[in-house]
Amino acid sequence: MFQSKIAGIGFYVPEKVVTNNDLIKVMDTTDEWIQERTGIKERRYGEKHKETSATMGAEAARIAVERAGITMEDVDFIIFATLSPDYFFPGCGVLMQRILRLNGIGALDIRNQCSGFVYGLSIADQFVKTGMYKNVLLVGSEFHSPGLDFSTRGRNVTVIFGDGAGAVLIQPTTEEGKGILSTHLHADGDYAEKLAYINPGCHTGAHGQMERYAYPDQEFGGAFITEKMIEDEDLFPNMDGQFVFKFAVKKFPEVIMEALQKNGFSTEDIDMLVPHQANLRISQFVQRLLKLRDDQVWNNIQKYGNTTAASIPIALCEAWEAGKVKEGDLVCLAAFGSGFTWASALIRW
Ligand SMILES: CC(C)(COP(=O)(O)OP(=O)(O)OC[C@H]1O[C@@H](n2cnc3c(N)ncnc32)[C@H](O)[C@@H]1OP(=O)(O)O)[C@@H](O)C(=O)NCCC(=O)NCCS
Repeated sequence: MFQSKIAGIGFYVPEKVVTNNDLIKVMDTTDEWIQERTGIKERRYGEKHKETSATMGAEAARIAVERAGITMEDVDFIIFATLSPDYFFPGCGVLMQRILRLNGIGALDIRNQCSGFVYGLSIADQFVKTGMYKNVLLVGSEFHSPGLDFSTRGRNVTVIFGDGAGAVLIQPTTEEGKGILSTHLHADGDYAEKLAYINPGCHTGAHGQMERYAYPDQEFGGAFITEKMIEDEDLFPNMDGQFVFKFAVKKFPEVIMEALQKNGFSTEDIDMLVPHQANLRISQFVQRLLKLRDDQVWNNIQKYGNTTAASIPIALCEAWEAGKVKEGDLVCLAAFGSGFTWASALIRW
């Protein structure tokens, strides 16, 4: 068995900066409310007709591959994590593959929302450890902005999310004690609808919400997108913010401690914690609870908002570029999000 390591890392965010004051023009909100509750000052939005989760993923991937010191042709497997895919199907993995001209190799899409990157890292780790692949390209990318509700009704969700992509290239290493030490994956589907993008979809009300969707009385079809969904403007993500918050502040510390204990470390040993950038208040709560110093935690939600599957690789890449993640450092990644899913990874850089 090999161990695996992050051999290259990159990120891409679109040029367009959208401040809280820009959002005030379209919905009833304030800069103070957004900053106080989430820490977010601005986010990036992709360019319509040009950028997508797949194209942004490709931009980040090119940087990660170059920094790994390999060429694109050396990549032997793709893992793509997103909750904002270009198409309902096929997945973004094959679309990005086409852009990068990597046709022929396997491309796997994963649907684990804010935990998608850590889930993907775990999958890449297993493939590399067994020797099946040598250069796995893992991408987390989101183009949220086309699918958000920019009316006041959607403000609790919309102000939080931003667009962007992060990528890593995973390779085997024989260096003892180096690379990905362990990954820890969890989920609890009891809370699936607490943070969800339900319509349009193939659920046909089967999860107990028949009345809400009022399906047309026809024998075949007509249930993926209904007149009622359109009339009710029930075509956007929804979130029970307070419920999510309470669950997140419980699960983040649990899954971080799980990773540390599994490897015989304590919180003092962490050189850098890169939490999923859900909300600055959540990260600060976790930091206080675990008694971590400011220099042990990386936050950049202020600039990018919550970029779901992209948030950890973007933050990790920024920390690395700033020289705050160095050779030999103990790095902990931790995620929580829709599903609910939560996950962590411990890495000796
Ligand atoms: C979303 C979140 C910021 C909302 O903050 P909150 O203090 O829980 O606020 P509430 O949802 O209770 O709403 C309080 C009030 O603010 C209003 N509000 C919601 N969004 C608003 C916005 N963008 N601007 C202004 N007011 C807003 C609500 O309508 C509500 O008004 P009311 O009291 O008149 O009904 C907070 O719940 C949160 O951060 N949750 C976690 C979300 C998260 O991290 N999601 C990603 C997980 S990966």
